[in-house]
Amino acid sequence: MDTASTAATQEPTLRVRADILRRLDFPALFGRRAPVELELGAGDGSFLLAHAAAHPERDFMGVERLLGRLRKIDRKGRRRGLANLRALRLEAGYVLEWMIRPGSLDALHVYFPDPWPKRRHWKRRLVNPRFVELASLALAPGGVAYLRTDDEPYFAQMTVVFDGGADFERIAETAGLLDRRTDFETDFNSRGIPTRHGAWRRR
Ligand SMILES: C[S@@+](CC[C@H](N)C(=O)[O-])C[C@H]1O[C@@H](n2cnc3c(N)ncnc32)[C@H](O)[C@@H]1O
Repeated sequence: MDTASTAATQEPTLRVRADILRRLDFPALFGRRAPVELELGAGDGSFLLAHAAAHPERDFMGVERLLGRLRKIDRKGRRRGLANLRALRLEAGYVLEWMIRPGSLDALHVYFPDPWPKRRHWKRRLVNPRFVELASLALAPGGVAYLRTDDEPYFAQMTVVFDGGADFERIAETAGLLDRRTDFETDFNSRGIPTRHGAWRRR
């Protein structure tokens, strides 16, 4: 596993060099106890940067495997002075399964994950029955999993697995959250491609 290096720069960085054999200690990482929200596959961080700026009382971590995208989150986050944001370059499924302490998340965001449209590739999709089990472990009671996609069959799969999870109930998102678009969402919508969204609260 490859994490972003902080050693080459003297500037403060929002990038995290994590011990991948330990679960993340969010209070130690952020220097305080606050609700934590995690975004998997954060891309250029458009959602997370806006959300973190709007909620200084909460802490945020973005997980993204592409270094160029991670660097953008880091650069923009530092420019905006977001002390409540961190970015981690790792595989999203690994982070959720092995690096999150049970009950330590207040929200989990997964926006426009790779849809793997060919049926024989569906097993590669991030959101599946195992994902729901892991989300149930990672979220504190009352925590919410937020999902968005442009892929109708994937949205159907997301709905089936979360509706089928005994620990979750579907809720309506607030308009304020939905107004906070991701880069991919803005692009899809500008091209007239409809997008779907759903939220499920951990009982
Ligand atoms: C379609 S893009 C969506 C990005 C962003 N959420 C948005 O809506 O603008 C999917 C993102 O997830 C990242 N990604 C895909 N699979 C991943 C994985 N297994 N672990 C970490 N990041 C992943 C990709 O590099 C990409 O940035």
